[in-house]
Amino acid sequence: MSKTKVIAFANNKGGSGKTTTASNVGCAMAKLGKKVLLIDADMQMNLTLSLFDEERALGFAESGKNLYTAVKEERELSEFIVNTDYEGLDIVPSTPLMSSVEFDLFTKWQREFILKKILAPTVALGYYDFVLIDAPPTLGGWVMNVMCASDFVIIPVEASPWGLFGLANMFDFINQVKSIAPRLEVMGIAITKADERKNYFKQTVEALKDGDVARLFGTYIRVDSAIEWSQDNSRPVVAYKKYSRSAIEYTKLAKEIIEYADR
Ligand SMILES: Nc1ncnc2c1ncn2[C@@H]1O[C@H](COP(=O)(O)OP(=O)(O)O)[C@@H](O)[C@H]1O
Ligand SMILES: [Mg+2]
Repeated sequence: MSKTKVIAFANNKGGSGKTTTASNVGCAMAKLGKKVLLIDADMQMNLTLSLFDEERALGFAESGKNLYTAVKEERELSEFIVNTDYEGLDIVPSTPLMSSVEFDLFTKWQREFILKKILAPTVALGYYDFVLIDAPPTLGGWVMNVMCASDFVIIPVEASPWGLFGLANMFDFINQVKSIAPRLEVMGIAITKADERKNYFKQTVEALKDGDVARLFGTYIRVDSAIEWSQDNSRPVVAYKKYSRSAIEYTKLAKEIIEYADR
């Protein structure tokens, strides 16, 4: 495996914490001295908005410096990398135009592997330790591209009454992807928005802790209002309020991920 590890954050359920986890794990890894590239693969561009205010984020949409242009024109992703305000943390921004990416992929040769192909020179260069891809809440040709470009998948699961709903579809989908990208490995499930006082938190942990579904990360991310404030300020919580409990938990999770990927 190359030095650069590519990790997708995916779950077809919206609001499960994919974007919050990708931005904070990425920023925490950069603070730990790793070189990290984020890829915002969702048309809602929440990952881009976690790091830039709306004006700057929409500027990438207008200037063509975004993932959609790269995929549509099948150009090397390295041309579309933007520095963030954080040392060691770069991003390929998204744009609302990503909504038509499925359509654009349709006519392409080997269309499941377009993202893998345009990312390959960056991976081969080995400058980045990690490439983290924030997937949209769907299971189609585009998420297939995201997974085919990845070494690992991390599944953020919200500790809520509906948090586990649809997880079986997710694993069926991953098995389908593995038939064309056999290297893909589920690194684990990360529980987010945990509230230890609530019964459904205990039920979620109970259902996942034996590892039958998939490996479970030891670190849970608890509900923390600092996350919403940080997003309101276009900053990851690990940078905005580094002593908040979610910042501490995300830093622990980042260390678990680094350790697993390096083993
Ligand atoms: N640990 C947390 N505590 C409180 N709110 C959270 C937490 N994690 C995520 N959120 C909020 O939940 C919502 C969904 O999270 P998000 O990361 O955007 O999920 P996804 O990308 O899977 O749709 C966002 O509004 C975010 O601010
Ligand atoms: Mg998201």
